[in-house]
Amino acid sequence: MRERPRKTVAELRSMRWFAPDDLRSFGHRSRMKQMGFWREEFSGRPVIGIVNTWNGFNTCHTHFPERVRDVTRGIQEAGGFAVELPAMSLGEQMMKPTTMLYRNFLAMEVEEIIRCHPVDGVVLMGGCDKTTPALLMGALSANIPAIYVPAGPMLRGHWKNVTLGSGTDVWKYWADRRAGLIDDKEWGELEDGIARSAGTCMTMGTAATMMSIAEAMGMSLPGASAIPAVDASHPRMASASGRRIVDMVWEDLKPTDIMTEAAFENGIVVDMAIGGSTNAIVHLLAMARRAGVPLTMESFDRIAGDVPLLANIKPSGTFVMEDFYYAGGLRALLAQLAPRLHLDAITVTGGTLGDAIAGAEIYNPEVIRTLDNPVKGPGSTAVVRGSLAPDGAVIKPSAAEAHLLVHEGPAVVFRDIVDLKARVDRDDLDVTADSVLVLQNAGPVGAPGMPEWGQLPIPKKLLQQGVRDMVRISDARMSGTSYGACVLHVSPEAAIGGPLGLVRDGDRIRLDVPNRRLDLLVPEEDLATRRAAWVQPALPGGDRGYVALYRRSVTQAHLGCDFDFLDGRPGESPEPQIA
Ligand code: FES
Repeated sequence: MRERPRKTVAELRSMRWFAPDDLRSFGHRSRMKQMGFWREEFSGRPVIGIVNTWNGFNTCHTHFPERVRDVTRGIQEAGGFAVELPAMSLGEQMMKPTTMLYRNFLAMEVEEIIRCHPVDGVVLMGGCDKTTPALLMGALSANIPAIYVPAGPMLRGHWKNVTLGSGTDVWKYWADRRAGLIDDKEWGELEDGIARSAGTCMTMGTAATMMSIAEAMGMSLPGASAIPAVDASHPRMASASGRRIVDMVWEDLKPTDIMTEAAFENGIVVDMAIGGSTNAIVHLLAMARRAGVPLTMESFDRIAGDVPLLANIKPSGTFVMEDFYYAGGLRALLAQLAPRLHLDAITVTGGTLGDAIAGAEIYNPEVIRTLDNPVKGPGSTAVVRGSLAPDGAVIKPSAAEAHLLVHEGPAVVFRDIVDLKARVDRDDLDVTADSVLVLQNAGPVGAPGMPEWGQLPIPKKLLQQGVRDMVRISDARMSGTSYGACVLHVSPEAAIGGPLGLVRDGDRIRLDVPNRRLDLLVPEEDLATRRAAWVQPALPGGDRGYVALYRRSVTQAHLGCDFDFLDGRPGESPEPQIA
């Protein structure tokens, strides 16, 4: 382990608030005493902010109030002073139109609550989808010592002695219900059994993907990401994280020391090996721009071509995260991936990733596979380009029916989500299993916030014929728990004049995943005529306040959908004046 010079007490950031013999610092100290603390408790020792993304609507973070106590216990044991800093919670289920609209909001809040308060280090508590990238983006920009405590997955779902996976099995049984195969009583039973405890979705959705990536990038303690939220190991991990952040402050081990280019490449390797959510691409691009790391869509395609799918987890596999934990968790998977990883990357432990995975074993080789016995070969995520997506689009081939990966068919176009909902199940919809469903105006600017509408529903009349997958194309995202031949994140999006907005019913579209192509087979002169006549549609969501700021400043999907004024300058904003 590399020895780092230790800070002195005088160098603690919090001492700028608490040490000086002046009127302002008198105010700071006297008001801390107002809360019942002795000066010796908060002054002269690392002050640790616990950034807690709990609220009463975040169904995945219901254990966070208890975990704050566990983290606090660890901080105090190590000689630090803990202060809880509540931040906006992004509960995936309840927030509309999408938590993605607020990822940058939380990232800004995290950066600013760190910057404006007398904290020397932070514990970042998140897990439900967008909370993880938002916390890491904010921490990168603030760039003081930070450690991530993942919420952990919930227990497996259960119905009629069948394991249910969050999202994945909801989509499956919902299709059966729309086809008339599930009655009201069974649907109620599914509702009772699908979400059984605190914790995040327990399939390899965005939450499990981002928690795994955060660990692979070194931002949480080794082995943390797969611990079920209600397992007794979880509070122990939380208190250990509290202990560790205090030492990270003395060592001045900052996010930019950990989230390096090598760490991002490790994160992508793991993303591919776990069959991770396509959302991870947008988040990693945004995080990389915050870190000043030159990541592009091509980085994903390059690494995807070299990394097979090793985690046999829904939606690309069979098991759920609880099984993954018992099978050895992420450390076991990382150990298999060692030849593909930068093992010298530094983690929050102060040691290397190689140290973190030393001795890790697979306990169930069905759940965690080896490089010579993968679930599927390389390429679990692919980036396609072409006349329909000049700046790229994303598909998850491992979750699609194989025969659709090379497909040409006529477009059936929905101009927005309202149009889709109104017409998709109509008997007179001119659609066959060979059609290509197109959803427009569901991107970052159009929706706004690029919601997870990209798994367009299969038209009811086709469901009743037994069709369960079709090529579907949009500028939206898709839940990581979803599956299907869904081409997502089309950039540039329809609402800013991208080619997706020019598609009309009956246009031929060709998807060719092996050759990474997505083309609108319409002559360029016809497209030029349509482009000249194109008018931006009326966009929902209003044009004031945060939505106006968002629309004005959000970048396109291939750049990560961060605000254009926030990327690329980690730790460069000045410390606040204390006067
Ligand atoms: Fe929170 Fe899925 S709803 S992780």
